[in-house]
Amino acid sequence: MRISIIGTGYVGTVTGTCFAHMGHEVVCVDVDPERVKKINAGEPPIYEEGLEELLKDHAGKNLRATLDYDAAIAGTDISFICVPTPTDADGRIDLRFVREASRSIGQRLKNKKSYHIVVVKSTVVPGTTSGVARPILEQESGKKAGEGFGVGMNPEFLREGKAVYDFQHPDRIVIGADDPKAAAIIRQLYAGYTCPVLETDTKTAEMIKYVSNAFLATKISFANEVGNICKRLGIDTYKVMEGVGLDARISPHFLRSGLGFGGSCFPKDVKALIGKAAEVDYEPLLLKTVLKVNDKQPEIALRLLKKHVPDLKGKKIAVLGLAFKDDTDDIRESRAIPLIGALLAEGAKVVAYDRMAAGHMKNVYPNIGYAKTAGDALDGAEACLIATEWKEFEKLDVEFARMRQKIVIDGRRVVDPRGKDIIYEGLCW
Ligand code: UGA
Repeated sequence: MRISIIGTGYVGTVTGTCFAHMGHEVVCVDVDPERVKKINAGEPPIYEEGLEELLKDHAGKNLRATLDYDAAIAGTDISFICVPTPTDADGRIDLRFVREASRSIGQRLKNKKSYHIVVVKSTVVPGTTSGVARPILEQESGKKAGEGFGVGMNPEFLREGKAVYDFQHPDRIVIGADDPKAAAIIRQLYAGYTCPVLETDTKTAEMIKYVSNAFLATKISFANEVGNICKRLGIDTYKVMEGVGLDARISPHFLRSGLGFGGSCFPKDVKALIGKAAEVDYEPLLLKTVLKVNDKQPEIALRLLKKHVPDLKGKKIAVLGLAFKDDTDDIRESRAIPLIGALLAEGAKVVAYDRMAAGHMKNVYPNIGYAKTAGDALDGAEACLIATEWKEFEKLDVEFARMRQKIVIDGRRVVDPRGKDIIYEGLCW
């Protein structure tokens, strides 16, 4: 099929490239000439494992990028809206880019003779596709949805860093459409996939995405709460969750306790769902608590540190890991941000290390120290805090000898203290 992808962020680029790899004809549209140039040269505008290889195989063949909306909509049968949906100052979803994309597509649909489908892939609160995108498309095109064109919602479940793998090995595909013709065509796109395919209306598809992320975030906050209790009881919470996760109804995933969740999705999506609930006059107590527990974990790390170093004023503290999780340079909502903020408020001298994310953190904290290696960050430190689950921290050993005091507060359970001459404190264990 001929597909246009609106927006070349991580969802758009991965979706477009993977559709091209499935044999579809793909055109990616973006307003940023740099991104367009890069994609056409086979260079991914973002880092994603496996993306560069696929893009190189398809760029200039059945995948190209353009600034030209007219040609993209005229030359394709289906458009995916893959634009960002940030949170506004009140924690509500900001649909500016979805509106803009709908307007731009709608204007081009006016003169289009053949049936075209517009699919929202961006994460949007329930009711957005039918209540925001669809009326704009109808108004701009002068056509009625379901007659002149079709509308759908097809959420993504792609982890950052593993997005290509997740696209190619999904647990399920959710197709939301308010008319059967659109649903059937969207389904054809995924022909060959063997996972369950669930067809719903657009509102339900939107809710499935939010509830999936909110549930995963809830699992993490639940694991953190259990971990905080276990720590006080002298019980290893990781063994507890191993036992709990063996129950097939629970599953072992997303039960790792520690500093909590960050990233561009969980905090934003839980907040947006809370905002949506408030709009319909419901107070989501559990979801609010999920965020509260998450916010508390960095405070607990600081408390544990102060148990060993009561006065942090002027003391060098190493922070290892700045990204919101391993294998990414993304620091959005990283737990390292409030952690460093709290250390600075106590007057500590922070030296941070992250092999990929330091550059971004310099925009947030330009005045802290940045080391080139974990060992350099540890050099002369009174204590260290581990904020990201980078594999390389598992191997740290002799580097700890460079510290003034070998105190390690591990927020991600990456250091095994056995056989190491260190004072080790796990966040929840
Ligand atoms: C998440 C979801 O996992 C994807 O399914 C979803 O498509 C995506 O959001 C999205 O909405 O686009 P992502 O934000 O890339 O993906 O990150 P995750 O791998 O889910 O991790 C999120 C955070 O939870 C990280 O800070 C990680 O350290 C933390 N985490 C994860 C825990 O603290 N404990 C765990 O057991 C698992």
